[in-house]
Amino acid sequence: MCGIVGYIGMQNAAPILLEGLKKLEYRGYDSAGIAVMQNGSIAVSKVTGRIAALAEKTEHGSLLPGTVGIGHTRWATHGAPTDANAHPHTSNDGRFAVVHNGIIENYLELRKELMEKGYHFDSETDTEVVVHLMEMYYQGDLKQAVMRTSARLCGSYALGILCSDEPNRMFAVREASPLILGVGVGENFFASDVTALVAYTRNAIYLDDGEFAELTPDGIQVYDCTGQPFRKKVSRISWDIQAAEKGGYEHFMRKEIMEQPRAVKATMAPRLKDGQVVLDDMEIDLHGIRKIVITACGSAYYAGCAAKYAIEKLCHIPVQIELASELRYSDPLIDATTLLIVLSQSGETADTIAAMKECQSHGAKALAIVNVVGSTIAKLADYCLYTWAGPEIAVATTKGYTTQLTALYLFALYGAKELRTVDEAEYQKKLQVLKALPKLMQQALDMNPNLEQLAKKYHRAHSMFFIGRNTDYAVALEGALKMKEISYIHAESYAAGELKHGTIALISEGQPVIALCCNDAITEKTMSNIVEVKARGAEVLAVACRDNQKIVSLADDMIFVPKVEPLFSAAVEIVPLQLLAYYVARENGCDIDKPKNLAKSVTVE
Ligand code: G6P
Repeated sequence: MCGIVGYIGMQNAAPILLEGLKKLEYRGYDSAGIAVMQNGSIAVSKVTGRIAALAEKTEHGSLLPGTVGIGHTRWATHGAPTDANAHPHTSNDGRFAVVHNGIIENYLELRKELMEKGYHFDSETDTEVVVHLMEMYYQGDLKQAVMRTSARLCGSYALGILCSDEPNRMFAVREASPLILGVGVGENFFASDVTALVAYTRNAIYLDDGEFAELTPDGIQVYDCTGQPFRKKVSRISWDIQAAEKGGYEHFMRKEIMEQPRAVKATMAPRLKDGQVVLDDMEIDLHGIRKIVITACGSAYYAGCAAKYAIEKLCHIPVQIELASELRYSDPLIDATTLLIVLSQSGETADTIAAMKECQSHGAKALAIVNVVGSTIAKLADYCLYTWAGPEIAVATTKGYTTQLTALYLFALYGAKELRTVDEAEYQKKLQVLKALPKLMQQALDMNPNLEQLAKKYHRAHSMFFIGRNTDYAVALEGALKMKEISYIHAESYAAGELKHGTIALISEGQPVIALCCNDAITEKTMSNIVEVKARGAEVLAVACRDNQKIVSLADDMIFVPKVEPLFSAAVEIVPLQLLAYYVARENGCDIDKPKNLAKSVTVE
């Protein structure tokens, strides 16, 4: 949610800031701006809209010369997406510029105080208080002003701060919003995410909450919240620049869909050793665990919904799935006998972090399944399994979801072995299914050359219903989310058996219903529901195995998937549905990688 970048060095800052912002655009894209220092003053340029518009306005940065600068791409929270509300914000005396990701919760009282002292505000944002506080507290010592300002702020903030009186340094501050420092030679950087840094350096310092840093061209000094300098570990960024590029695909989403077999393999490979699942260095004693609670947001939540079946079946432990935004305020019945599993691609989702902290405060240990190394959730969790999917840039997750599923399947098998809830023969059988997933996902991609045609048929629909039972229902949830978030077609998922309790009233002539029927044990039941909706005029697109002749003759259209053990089938079934959503969105001319109103990393409540 909002992306920030900063550069200090010998090169012109603006082109580097623009490049960095392009990489961060997935975090928010309703307005953008940069501020560059030169000859003792700060020049600012802002636009409503995308980074491309900012690049055009600044003639690719050439209109703002200078070697120190900060930039921002915004996902509006306080105030509409306008030029005035775009960052960087500047102080009344023009000596300070600030970019901010997060929310200043006490901004109204600060705003009132600052206005009473005579500061005027140009924007409706919460951020603007920061820059006026900087002006108020600055008495020739920038570090002191940064500390005094930070001490007044409540909420979450990653800040980048420039002061024209101090042209050879800039400050970066972190509290509950991601911020990474890039360590270069004769130049240094900060950014919300490593994707903005990898083109320039592979050496990164992950700031922790309460820490701040002073960057000069020659060095970085990190301080704790009391202002004490200390040395912080420099980590190596493992993602390479190609991983964050489109690689010949028209959209990141398409690339990431196609990458899934490889990504799932990367999630599994380091954890399959000597014919068994080995979960890194974790020593989770599952014997005392009475309940597993899985919490997450969006697709990650749906990954939890799908994997619940595998964990319960294999580990014989009840699994409860909770939306993080609900769990955090629910005063949950959780204690040390609960294992919390937290799912998050970004590792920065605000509600998920809060839910995790709430459960940890009740005594539960948290196992995080996260993609982004060094992210907040990874750091705060008691145990962490990285999904190793590589950078996911498209706002709508694809490989993030399937690798989360894979990590959960691995956990389920690991638990089964630990708890001896399945015998060795069954364990080995399940392990083979898991190992085959990348191949089966590839087949699911290859065996549906008709998806583009289907998209042409269905893309004008006003709404779509996705139905299924059991694991098929879990996939329907994610299938419908994919469709609505990128194609803007209203899409709802229903447990097929629930249709007749109300929703069937909405079925009329020509209504598309996407019916998932991949779980043999209950296919007959879902087929009855297909018959019911067809009787009311629905156009049924079924997702099933090729040998399911009954469905083939019943449905209007088919998407085929290879046969997979139902416990693990979600990872395969979802793949053609992602592609279908992609093609429908493309038919509708939607901005697939950056759907309207969304952002990938939701760091606000
Ligand atoms: C946003 C993204 C989704 C994602 C959700 C949770 O809504 O658009 O794709 O599933 O956040 O994100 P996380 O990073 O915690 O998995």
